[in-house]
Amino acid sequence: MNILSLKNIKYSFENTDILNGINLKIQKGECISIIGTSGSGKSTLLKLCSDLISPNSGEILFYDKDYKNYEPIDLRKQISYCMQIPYLFGENVYDNLAYPFKIRKQNGDKSKIINFLERLNLDESYLKKDINSLSGGEKQRVALIRNLIYKPEILLLDEVTSGLDSKNANLVTELVREMNEEGITILWITHNLEQSKSIFNRRIHIEEGQIIEEEILK
Ligand SMILES: Nc1ncnc2c1ncn2[C@@H]1O[C@H](COP(=O)(O)OP(=O)(O)O)[C@@H](O)[C@H]1O
Ligand SMILES: [Mg+2]
Repeated sequence: MNILSLKNIKYSFENTDILNGINLKIQKGECISIIGTSGSGKSTLLKLCSDLISPNSGEILFYDKDYKNYEPIDLRKQISYCMQIPYLFGENVYDNLAYPFKIRKQNGDKSKIINFLERLNLDESYLKKDINSLSGGEKQRVALIRNLIYKPEILLLDEVTSGLDSKNANLVTELVREMNEEGITILWITHNLEQSKSIFNRRIHIEEGQIIEEEILK
């Protein structure tokens, strides 16, 4: 069964076509790399997949059911989007990492949070840090952890290692690989092909709002 299907998706903004007929079927458990030049429509594609925006025409299906027939909150819990420019809220890191528990009316599991922080070369001391004091790369990792506290069905990653040195980028790749092995379907916009090549089973190349090439990697 396809976990995600895009059928002839078109998206335009103020009379400019941004996506021109995207057709894509994704099976549960796939790990897909999305490449393409800047402005080709990659982020727009992930915003559509995360239900942040809606197509002008075409259908997006999650498990064969149109997005329109889901409650937005249900889609948001199962399809998680990590933006290119990380968005943190509240005052400190803890506010962000406690949030997934809060919206589910669960008690925060501090050891789970700390475990994620340590895996990405951060530690408990970060919990009290003001979000404005973090570097771009630290913000990216905190935002990624926030997306993983409760495992989504689909994880959409938008160039999330752009602010990281290679050591920390590798830690992120390893964590994503593990999440994929646990069954999470991944779509990852990435420029650094060498760093993360080994985790992908398919690569999709987008230019001018269309898929121009697809490659099976393993
Ligand atoms: N909210 C928006 N308003 C106006 N133009 C937009 C908006 N979002 C995207 N675009 C335009 O759509 C095109 C594709 O953008 P984007 O999906 O961000 O590309 P990519 O992620 O591949 O760099 C670009 O030309 C961009 O300027
Ligand atoms: Mg982009």
